[in-house]
Amino acid sequence: MEKHVNFGSRMGAIFAAAGSAVGLGNIWRFPMLVGDNGGAAFILIYIMCILLVGIPIMVGEFVIGRHTQSNMIDAFRQLAPGKWWRIIGVMGIGVAFIILSYYLVVSGWTLYYAYSSFSGALSNPDCDYGAFFGDYVANPWLSLISAVVFMLMTHLIIIRGVQEGIEKCSKILMPMLLLIIGILVVCTFSMPGINEGLTFLLKPDFSKLNFSVILAAMGQAFYSLSVAMGCLCTYASYFNKNTRLVSSALSVSSIDTLVAILSGFIIFPAVFSVPHVEANAGPGLVFQTLPYVFNMAFGNIPILGYIFSGLFYVLLFLAALTSAISLHEAVTAYVLQNWKMSRKKASTIVSACAMTLGIFCCLSFGVLSHWTIFGLTIFDLFDTVSSNIILPLGGVLLALFVGWYLNRELVRQEITNNGEVSQRIFPIIIFLLRWVAPIAILSMFIKGLIEMFNK
Ligand code: PFF
Repeated sequence: MEKHVNFGSRMGAIFAAAGSAVGLGNIWRFPMLVGDNGGAAFILIYIMCILLVGIPIMVGEFVIGRHTQSNMIDAFRQLAPGKWWRIIGVMGIGVAFIILSYYLVVSGWTLYYAYSSFSGALSNPDCDYGAFFGDYVANPWLSLISAVVFMLMTHLIIIRGVQEGIEKCSKILMPMLLLIIGILVVCTFSMPGINEGLTFLLKPDFSKLNFSVILAAMGQAFYSLSVAMGCLCTYASYFNKNTRLVSSALSVSSIDTLVAILSGFIIFPAVFSVPHVEANAGPGLVFQTLPYVFNMAFGNIPILGYIFSGLFYVLLFLAALTSAISLHEAVTAYVLQNWKMSRKKASTIVSACAMTLGIFCCLSFGVLSHWTIFGLTIFDLFDTVSSNIILPLGGVLLALFVGWYLNRELVRQEITNNGEVSQRIFPIIIFLLRWVAPIAILSMFIKGLIEMFNK
């Protein structure tokens, strides 16, 4: 079994955690929610959710991880021996494994689209983008190969370990991701739809705000920060004793929110530059609408469209990779610490099992599309159960555990680094964890359940 290792630098720790948070959700889901729900008014509500619910839970997870120096399951075993609280750890690692197996599939798509952009397939003026995507996902070999290649990349990073693998890669990939976003944002200023795009995104429309919108903002904040899934707890177990937990949580959330908002600056000016294009959400937008839009948006300078499209899919791929690394590590750390085996062996077992489930998710877009449970394909089932049920439930329990159960002195020592950091924020975090976060997430959870059964 490997001996416990910490991240070598504060920067490395923050980039790794930010890498987990910044993912596909920031780039395709956040901008759409903003556009549909009141523009800047939604951004404001979202930031409140991050501050009042997301950050306190993230700090709680950091406290648990750094104090126990363990994966999420063992962390709860240590902090509440023999108590049912350990279900939170089991849910966290379980959901990380499930998300990993379907995340692989979409991540594989990003890889294939980056390749197709650079090979020129996506800049062909005769390309029917809807059919291109449909044929690709229904082709069992092509989509499986993409997922396997993506899994191998993740695997190769994980087996190199915490410092040499995760930290080193995060320190390279995250700045690369931020640089690409910067370049793409600058490019959008040469698009004809820049003004309309920015107005759509930023004009505050407070009349659109209602309870549902607030809950949607919270759901997104929660998913976007990757809280309650074992990833951040595992990463915090590699924090050293000088890492400031609250300021790290603030840095990670700021990077995550910045990427989400900038993604809107990239997508909407492009969409508004091309007439008759609907800005619909999700895979349809990213894999069918956007390739077309990128191709057309630069009008008379097609080379710009080619570069823009290639960089955009590389951006998606990098975001997916850093998130997948954190999901993989959450499970691998548990396997290697519990079954006392080498990192290489543990990681191989996790990769093989996740890939096996991933195969079913992949095929659920083609030959297995008729396999449904409650009307959902395997892919949709994994996504719905993990994001709508296990995650919020884990979040509520985590907030209650840190807010009410965990020894207050222990939490104070962790948050203040044994008194080195100011104590002022401590009572605020405890209040938010005790009252605000559980009530807020429970409302979101109940609404999600009602919507699911009403479908
Ligand atoms: N936070 C990621 C996003 O916004 O896309 C998604 C994600 C990453 C979920 C890592 C879960 C996870 F463990």
